[in-house]
Amino acid sequence: MSFDFDAIIDRVGTNSVAVDGFRKYLFDDPDLALPCPDDEALVMWVADMAFAVPPVALEAMQRRMRQPIFGYTTPIDGTLADAFIGWCDRRYGWAPAAEHHVPAAGIVPALYDLVGFIGEPGDVVLTHTPAYEPFESAISYHGCSFASSPLLRSEAGEYVFDASDLGARLADPAVKLFVLCHPHNPTGRSWREGELRQVAELCFDNDVLIISDEIHCDLMRSGRTHTPLAKLYPDSDQIITCMSSSKTFNLAGLGLANVVIPNDRVREAWEDRHFPVLNPLSAAAATAVFREGDEWLAALTGYLDANFELVRSVLADHLPLAKFTVPDATYLAWIDVSAYFEPGTDLTAHYATQAGLLIEGGEKFVADGDGCLRMNLACPRSTVAEAMRRIVDVTPTRP
Ligand SMILES: Cc1ncc(COP(=O)(O)O)c(C=O)c1O
Repeated sequence: MSFDFDAIIDRVGTNSVAVDGFRKYLFDDPDLALPCPDDEALVMWVADMAFAVPPVALEAMQRRMRQPIFGYTTPIDGTLADAFIGWCDRRYGWAPAAEHHVPAAGIVPALYDLVGFIGEPGDVVLTHTPAYEPFESAISYHGCSFASSPLLRSEAGEYVFDASDLGARLADPAVKLFVLCHPHNPTGRSWREGELRQVAELCFDNDVLIISDEIHCDLMRSGRTHTPLAKLYPDSDQIITCMSSSKTFNLAGLGLANVVIPNDRVREAWEDRHFPVLNPLSAAAATAVFREGDEWLAALTGYLDANFELVRSVLADHLPLAKFTVPDATYLAWIDVSAYFEPGTDLTAHYATQAGLLIEGGEKFVADGDGCLRMNLACPRSTVAEAMRRIVDVTPTRP
């Protein structure tokens, strides 16, 4: 079957965060003037896709809609857990125990709850920076302190973590939880087995629980595979894994994620707090894509690979001082353009006002993102080409 990723689909007027709601999220000044009407801006910021979902997801929801009652729904027959475990087993050789699986309304809501079950006010929760901003909000919401170990860029341009810094921070007895982002948003690094073992063992040695947010794990570049952290430690109950079909198959608005909690204390806290109500349409779509979404994902992967190659080649030809490596995973390009701007420049506002291009500057990623921009490449090739043309046009040749 062939899938059309080139189609431009109009989302204006659908209450889409990306298209209708960007001013609130992106701009400090809500009246910031763009060079075009808002609905003509190029939208490449929040991490959802400009692509239609797989036909199997639509068909599954349409089938479910023929039964015209949408009352309280809960995972009684294990279908969703089976489909999720089957997907993980088939793709990653990891089959988490069904009794450890809990559905959540999303990974962000799950993070808020998990931090509350694990941390006490005053505890420290550690992650890497730059970071997905809701990590910080979920941590501070519970009165815990957010701490980070900054990622470093190697000579070869690859992001790496600083094991000695991480070890020193984890040794603080106030640190109770480490949130790993694997693959990492925004840099796109997929941590290799040796790195995963290093992080896990530092956490185990210091009695620190780990939440491994693996929401981007299905979105690997061709030829790369994802290793779930928990796969490396099948007997450990110290690793909570968060995955979702929402990022992979563009179902984020349906609000459903899968969390694997082997730790009895944390899972019991979760079960006490949650009556597992499932949105029946979300469950139908997620079950279908976990069972039958491989072909669509393979086609998407090839399309994204080519979008990344386009970005790489335009930057190499026209903005040679930009630092960019095609990431291992995600559909997010993280580009260091600091050579072209004064430190502290609001890149979000620059590209919006000068080019009508909606991307996120590194300042949106908590810390250590200055001078970088994050651009969502899950959109038609023609959009990527036009965005690159505008970036080349409005990036100053010298600061
Ligand atoms: C690392 C990470 N975690 C979680 C989310 C959001 O998860 P959800 O939509 O399931 O709440 C995102 C979305 O971009 C993300 O990048």
